[in-house]
Amino acid sequence: MNFKFNQALMFTATSLSLLIAGCSQSNVANTASSPSKETKSKPSENSIEIWPTLDIAVKPDEKIEQRIADLLGKMTLAQKVAQTIQPEIRDITLEDMRTYGFGSYLNGGGAFPNGDKHALPSDWVALAEKMYQASIDDSIDGSTIPTMWGTDAVHGHNNVIGATLFPHNIGLGATHNPALIEDIAKATAEEVLATGIDWIFAPTVATVRDDRWGRTYEGYSEDPEIVRLYSASIVKGLQGRANSNFLGERQVISTVKHFIGDGGTIGGDDQGNNIADEQTLFDIHAQGYVGGLTAGAQTVMASFNSWKGDKVHGNQYLLTSVLKERMGFDGFVVGDWNGHGQIPGCSNESCPQAMNAGLDVFMVPTGAWKPLLENTIAQVKSGEISEARLDDAVTRILRVKLRAGLFDKPAPAKRVLSGDKDIIGSPEHRAVARQAVRESLVLLKNHQQLLPLSPNANVLVAGGGADNIGQQSGGWSITWQGTGNTNQDFPGGTSIYQGIKQAVSHAKGHVELATDGKFTQRPDVAIVVFGEQPYAEGNGDLDNLEYQRGNKTDLALLKSLKDQGIPVVSIFLTGRPLWVNPELNASDAFVVAWLPGTEGGGVADVLFSTENAELKHDFKGKLSFSWPKSPTQTNINRFDKNDTALLPYGFGLKYGEKSTLGNALSEETNRDSAQAISSLAIYDRSVQAPWKMALVTTQKSKTVASSMLENAELKFRTIDRRVQEDAFKIDWLSENAGQMRIYHDFLQDLRSYTEANSAIQFDYFLNSPIDAPLWLQVNCAETCTSDIDLRAHMQQQPTWQTLSVDLACFAQNATDFSKVGIPFALRSQGLLSLSLSDIRIVPHAANKADIGCPTE
Ligand code: BGC
Ligand code: BGC
Repeated sequence: MNFKFNQALMFTATSLSLLIAGCSQSNVANTASSPSKETKSKPSENSIEIWPTLDIAVKPDEKIEQRIADLLGKMTLAQKVAQTIQPEIRDITLEDMRTYGFGSYLNGGGAFPNGDKHALPSDWVALAEKMYQASIDDSIDGSTIPTMWGTDAVHGHNNVIGATLFPHNIGLGATHNPALIEDIAKATAEEVLATGIDWIFAPTVATVRDDRWGRTYEGYSEDPEIVRLYSASIVKGLQGRANSNFLGERQVISTVKHFIGDGGTIGGDDQGNNIADEQTLFDIHAQGYVGGLTAGAQTVMASFNSWKGDKVHGNQYLLTSVLKERMGFDGFVVGDWNGHGQIPGCSNESCPQAMNAGLDVFMVPTGAWKPLLENTIAQVKSGEISEARLDDAVTRILRVKLRAGLFDKPAPAKRVLSGDKDIIGSPEHRAVARQAVRESLVLLKNHQQLLPLSPNANVLVAGGGADNIGQQSGGWSITWQGTGNTNQDFPGGTSIYQGIKQAVSHAKGHVELATDGKFTQRPDVAIVVFGEQPYAEGNGDLDNLEYQRGNKTDLALLKSLKDQGIPVVSIFLTGRPLWVNPELNASDAFVVAWLPGTEGGGVADVLFSTENAELKHDFKGKLSFSWPKSPTQTNINRFDKNDTALLPYGFGLKYGEKSTLGNALSEETNRDSAQAISSLAIYDRSVQAPWKMALVTTQKSKTVASSMLENAELKFRTIDRRVQEDAFKIDWLSENAGQMRIYHDFLQDLRSYTEANSAIQFDYFLNSPIDAPLWLQVNCAETCTSDIDLRAHMQQQPTWQTLSVDLACFAQNATDFSKVGIPFALRSQGLLSLSLSDIRIVPHAANKADIGCPTE
């Protein structure tokens, strides 16, 4: 194989040291550590020397520091706390902004002015203007400090109709082109400014180690090298350069996120637990911060994930000692979407722990902002949060606002680019995006040099992704999940089919679109566009990497064309490397297009030559992620020694290069992967990530966030069985009372467990007789539940016992195991006191289960 690596990017001194670090990482036992209650720093285990002090491009400025001190000296406690509260546009009114003067606010993914998906740039600017005016209106709160608006422009200004959507980061990683990344960032900044917005929650600088993670596509690479370089480029593009146009009128504030370790959680679980040792945390997961903070990024978003069991939002060592004190970050740390509420002992409404740990701004969408504001004020009054800590947080916020010129700039409606609708989706920006699409395409296979195609040919375009701008754009596209859109929601955009049509109609060729492959005129070649449906965050988490497991409709389409003797070119839309050996075998040429965004024309640019058979554009893309050779090869990464990928990091054919894959790759799905799956711990001393526990009553559902929770119907309390607090007791206090539920907001794919004949097991101790039905429930969504009465199978005994139920019983009833939201819930119809521990799903235990189910 002939790999042409970009010399500038390869094998620098750092990557060699990472080689060593990478090896040591594989020695880390891959066991879930039980989350510790301790959220403070543990000095004995920490090695601050690992972290360098960064040479940050933006230096402190005497005048700004003086202005901050003057402002701070005049602020009341309530005004200060308001600076630390960031509500969401769906949960506040202008009056709230006038009354409290929040330091900032956001619109979440898929949140628009007036709730209108088709809001115009002028509507966005109008909201920005009104919020700004309300914030500087001192009639109620006495404050004139301007607020600022943050948005997730993560691949272009993706919440705005008509915006240029660039390829998602995984595609940009394949371009290996930091200069192009800076151009994309500049274009994004301009489109954001046209809507009156000040601040972007990007770039995501996760180094993604396990491709099952639903946010894999938000990462540039599995290797820190590109992440570090790109982070610096994008920050310079968004904010401008330190000594020239820094935060000038064409720039926005940027955020490096999510600090830290989001890409390295066990099993690729979104919001999960990263157990890397500290050197690895720096070498692998911190490099995006090294790049981005050095370039002057002004904000850092704390991550939902834990490090060694402790939520980063409450981790003083990481947020304060490492990030601020040691690395020298002097901007502010913003939380993620109610992330503070996940710290043990906190709720969305109250969390002194987070601010004490070093969080400066609470991202608090939902109505929780009001109690949080009030509680935080009370906590500073009582000394639970020191005044010095609050002052430090506000100092940091004001520093960023002053650096961004917010006090001196005109109001949003009067800024240079505001309301300029020609900027949104401008031809110049689309040209940059189209170039990025071209450069991101990775050619995996080109049997007998089928590509490039002649534009004079008779071309069939097939596949569900062919004329589908929503699918080619992925998550974070107009809506949060990227679902529910049609091509009309992307005015000015081009589907892959439309791009092909333009290229071919230009020559004397012929194109037919038939998504199901049923052509009317026999083609010379078929281009089939298919791949993942859009998703965002935990909704995209997988349990292995097999494409279309159990439902290979795209493979059937490829095969039907091949069986008719038609050469097949596959264009694969995906947010991550997936196991596609059968699809590769059924394709003559195979191109990974990732999630290219709105400029689908970039695909045809590379697929077709000129009419005179001259190349227009060669393939440039190289994998920035290793490509798996089996569904379970989920966390193979560059420099891994013991395992080989199907195609390694850096792979990507050019025209004329010999294609090596052949048509006979193993199609063995490795059902032993089902064999090899291990028990799934749901409750093991505590609820295991990603699951959470809640008490659900007729009134409401309350997440269990500490060792005790009680309402009129149910009482929860942790108890000691083998060790401290490794079990819990539930009392049903009234008849037909509520449910104890283990759940996750994002549906999990547990099919491998039903395929492996698993049983759901738990240990119990009856503290009272059981004389009414006790319903065990496994739920995939509200409409998809199945209950089994356990009463007849449980006895009161003086010891703990195990009860085991065949999972198939639930599958037979209604539960769809591809999307499980609740793997375990109990509801008693009568009064009952029951202790529980060790809730798990155990493979190959179905035939020995206490409650069996007939198998078909
Ligand atoms: C928001 C997203 C956010 C998500 C978090 C959605 O409702 O629109 O921006 O990331 O919730 O759960
Ligand atoms: C995501 C962040 C995002 C935030 C605001 C969260 O759910 O994790 O990446 O910036 O929502 O939408």
